[in-house]
Amino acid sequence: MFEILQNEPLNPTVFRMKVRAPRVAAKALPGQFIILRVDEEGERIPLTVADFDRENGIVTIIYQLVGATTIKLAHKKAGEFLQDFVGPLGTPTHTAGLKKVAVVGGGVGCAIAYPVAKRLHEQGCEVHSIIGFRCKDLVILEKEFEAASTLVKKMSDDGTWGAKGLVTDALKELIESGEKYDQVIAIGPLIMMKFVCKLTKEYGIKTVVSMNPIMIDGTGMCGCCRLTVGGETKFACVDGPDFDGHLVDFDEAMQRSGAYKEFEAHAREEACNLFAKEVI
Ligand SMILES: Cc1cc2nc3c(=O)[nH]c(=O)nc-3n(C[C@H](O)[C@H](O)[C@H](O)COP(=O)(O)OP(=O)(O)OC[C@H]3O[C@@H](n4cnc5c(N)ncnc54)[C@H](O)[C@@H]3O)c2cc1C
Ligand code: FES
Repeated sequence: MFEILQNEPLNPTVFRMKVRAPRVAAKALPGQFIILRVDEEGERIPLTVADFDRENGIVTIIYQLVGATTIKLAHKKAGEFLQDFVGPLGTPTHTAGLKKVAVVGGGVGCAIAYPVAKRLHEQGCEVHSIIGFRCKDLVILEKEFEAASTLVKKMSDDGTWGAKGLVTDALKELIESGEKYDQVIAIGPLIMMKFVCKLTKEYGIKTVVSMNPIMIDGTGMCGCCRLTVGGETKFACVDGPDFDGHLVDFDEAMQRSGAYKEFEAHAREEACNLFAKEVI
């Protein structure tokens, strides 16, 4: 069992949880993830290691409320326990030797992008972070990105925070103003990553994306997380989650990500009813 030390909202739909998990904290690196189960009957869900404190054995995860399990997670309090917390899983993001990188984060994807920006910054890399949200109320990790970056471009769809527009607008502007990046690292909704890659391909800038397909075992056994990358089948849990964005078949990934929508809606309804009954 894994003790929850903190569980706080960062905005109305995103929570940050700190968990005592010394073995995971000892080995975790940016880009890796854990798989947790809230309780014995719970489903397994993958979440990225958003931060870790090796000395005190603490792992931070940041999760968006999207369905049954994340709703259950949000109801947990400090002092309670999680049934399972397995990791670190996946291949760490490659950061060594990079001198200047644009880190692009969209929505809750910023929770995955932040530890990468932080690591690059610690290694002396010049980090330009471009972070985008639908509106001001959904902003997360603003201060953390400011601390880990030389430059932060803030974008919102409706103009209520930072500049109005998409992260691709800001990235294009930076590239056209003469900024030269060794690499772009883009993490967010599939559609955002697809369009970042389309843009960087035009300018010939290597681009790494973090792919989050549905995962079950997280160890390369079930085949559930398969993707097509450069015409080959890859498993996101062991070959990734990071891939060369110019080789990923995003259209296929988008089609596969919608496969369980109906089942998920049913589970979400059940979880909501359960907590509504608890409140009554
Ligand atoms: C490697 C990896 C890292 C991730 N990191 C984060 C993170 O740091 N923060 C965050 O908020 N989310 C992250 N996700 C997505 C997160 O796993 C899903 O939001 C979560 O599983 C939803 O579960 P649910 O029961 O609440 O919702 P459901 O109603 O079951 O599903 C809602 C949506 O979540 C996704 N999803 C559902 N089950 C899974 C699963 N087993 N594996 C992957 N995706 C699933 C699907 O897109 C689905 O449409 C990550 C996913 C992967 C694969
Ligand atoms: S989650 Fe089963 S092979 Fe990747």
